Amino acid sequence: MPKTRLLVISMLSALLAACGGNKSATAPEADAQKAAAVTAKVTQSRLNNADKEPGQWMTYGGTYNEQRFSGLKQITADNIKELGLAWFADFDTNRGQESTPLMVDGVIYVSQAWSKVNAYDAKTGAVLWQYDPKVSGEFGARGCCDVVNRGVAVWNGKVYVGVYDGRLVALDAATGKEVWSTLTTDQSKFYTITGAPRVANGKVFIGNGGAEYIYRGYVSAYDAETGKQVWRFYTLPGNPADGFENKAMEMAAKTWTGKWWEKGGGGSTWDAITYDPKTNLLLMGVGNGAPWNSKARSPDGGDNLFTVSIVAVDADTGEYKWHYQEIPSEEWDYDAVQQITVADIPINGTTRHVAMQATKSGYYYMVDATTGQLLVANNFVPVNWTSGYDLATGRPVINDAARYTKAEGPRIAQPGPVGAHSWHSMAFSPNTGLLYIPARESSIAYTVMPNGSPGNFNLNVNFTGGDKAYDEPGNKIPRGGDTKILAWDPVQGKAAWSVVTAGSAVGMQVTASNVLFSGNGAKREMQAFKADTGEQIWSYPVQAGIAAGSMSYEIDGEQYLAQVVGGGGPGGYYAPTYARLLVFKLGGKAQLPPNAEYTQAPFAPPAQTATADEVAKGGTIYGGACAICHGDGGASRGMFPDLRRSPLLVSQQAFDQVVLGGIRKDKGMTSFEGKLTAEETALVRAYMVDRAIAAKNAPAFAPPGQ
Ligand code: HEC
Repeated sequence: MPKTRLLVISMLSALLAACGGNKSATAPEADAQKAAAVTAKVTQSRLNNADKEPGQWMTYGGTYNEQRFSGLKQITADNIKELGLAWFADFDTNRGQESTPLMVDGVIYVSQAWSKVNAYDAKTGAVLWQYDPKVSGEFGARGCCDVVNRGVAVWNGKVYVGVYDGRLVALDAATGKEVWSTLTTDQSKFYTITGAPRVANGKVFIGNGGAEYIYRGYVSAYDAETGKQVWRFYTLPGNPADGFENKAMEMAAKTWTGKWWEKGGGGSTWDAITYDPKTNLLLMGVGNGAPWNSKARSPDGGDNLFTVSIVAVDADTGEYKWHYQEIPSEEWDYDAVQQITVADIPINGTTRHVAMQATKSGYYYMVDATTGQLLVANNFVPVNWTSGYDLATGRPVINDAARYTKAEGPRIAQPGPVGAHSWHSMAFSPNTGLLYIPARESSIAYTVMPNGSPGNFNLNVNFTGGDKAYDEPGNKIPRGGDTKILAWDPVQGKAAWSVVTAGSAVGMQVTASNVLFSGNGAKREMQAFKADTGEQIWSYPVQAGIAAGSMSYEIDGEQYLAQVVGGGGPGGYYAPTYARLLVFKLGGKAQLPPNAEYTQAPFAPPAQTATADEVAKGGTIYGGACAICHGDGGASRGMFPDLRRSPLLVSQQAFDQVVLGGIRKDKGMTSFEGKLTAEETALVRAYMVDRAIAAKNAPAFAPPGQ
């Protein structure tokens, strides 16, 4: 496409974005309008046979089995050096971007931060419409991990998006206008939606997040035409005095002690939902318990079903069918909400229908997709919390040395809560037989926080001050570790090859022509590898944070590759970052505009007036109330401000305007009024000043490859 046209399009979208609001944009091209009018006629039979239409990408994971395997073959190791940018589109927010676009009948539907949705002509990049659900900025502080959205679903002329504030919205695929909107959560509680809905047999399935807060998890099904709730499955029991919703809850309640329902219990299905047409089961990944601290949650022990489990329910009725609990009585935030990939795999000469998951715990699990029986459980990164699984019982042998609830001081657990693998998409190639996992080695020291957590959080765990545990004699666990692309033999449970990358993990896509697409977060690069050997064959600088998985589609005989980038750049929120949809094809000649200067505010702390004791107290409060967003010791590595560099450290008054006065609540910085006292915020500021002084002499920040 000529550069001028591209410019016009991106200017147009910038203009529309600047006007904001929920509008059906004037389409710059009449033929694009026409495409929109006939699009998104997605039916059950199309979805069931999605592998027969490799030119489309009709559901989040590519097909129902969530393999992120594209049947397209045009882009190969031999011609990939000609892969260039066909077009790109700027998003109107630079918050975190985690979505995988869908492409149906010539139109791309893609969600972005704040649950906004855009539709583009997939060939030209012309904007067809933009939708903004207008989430109140205050909701921004209700989640742990930014106002991200991972994707939309499409069915019978409608596009479905789960909105951060708990709504599920159906849009007219041709115009972007709301058809219906249903509130799926109690907005007085801190529920959020970041995951992509799935659709099957006229029902839309959606979960939610919030296990860092007072929370009880559930997944619901809504009628795709009307938005009426069809069923809801709670992932753990409520107060027995209120009666149980079903037999599964009655069974699960026997595995809890104390008054878990008062603190919610946790169990979010904030990401993984897989519909399996072969069994008509909906497989849901269930998160960790809340509070994280298992003793605070269920004081006399118990497995705490269905936390950290894969649960299968009848997709028509929501009736419980089976579950496999990966970690009973879990306490490290090793949730089981990571992608569940279904495949038919030969094992000892017989083809088995299996479900596979590689979780934050560092373990890869393969279960029988019809019964939930555990078939393989092996670690894919170093772990210290277990010595392994008993395949007969399906239970891990937990290493008490990693259980901080059995200790006075800090205990290191490996991996840490960022996990060995989180939401970043995996891919499975039936051709190579390998599962591609974006893996990360990590660890952290956990310390019990006996009197609950300050602020909104519900963890009963502290992460500040535990660092000394790494220097204890006998500790062999490193503080950090590598980010890796692992090509995993799913039956042997071991790596066939691996490539070390850096920075945050990047999602995977694998194609029928033996190409694996992923990237390097620190270098801000898309990358491609030979799927069978791991040999790198391509890279492209994306000028932004990169984490989402890519997808492929085909129009007029040309294969396109689409990748969402943005947010989460190393160096955090003070560094410029772009949020864009990038679309590539062979011979693509479009160019990104030059990268803006990469700058950061300096460390300029005022003099310290607090005592060492006050600083330590401030660190504890910070660890419980702020670290989850602003990072360990204020050194945010995500989109959130690096508080050590904040000019607001200059005075308590300036600091408290934000922290207690809530003047940034529209931007996602909640007010801690009523949750922290002025004395406590003064201690937090003293701690931050201490961290800023310590950082001032640290080596200068080096911008990554641009
Ligand atoms: C849920 C995530 C979240 C939590 C928890 C959180 N913050 Fe923030 N904070 C943000 C975001 C997002 C911003 C950026 C807002 C903006 O764009 O202006 C921010 C901005 C700030 C700023 C302004 C920095 C600047 O220079 O612009 C201060 C100060 C701050 N936070 C302090 C705190 C303190 C202290 C705590 C704990 C008591 C805390 N925050 C907890 C998300 C969070």
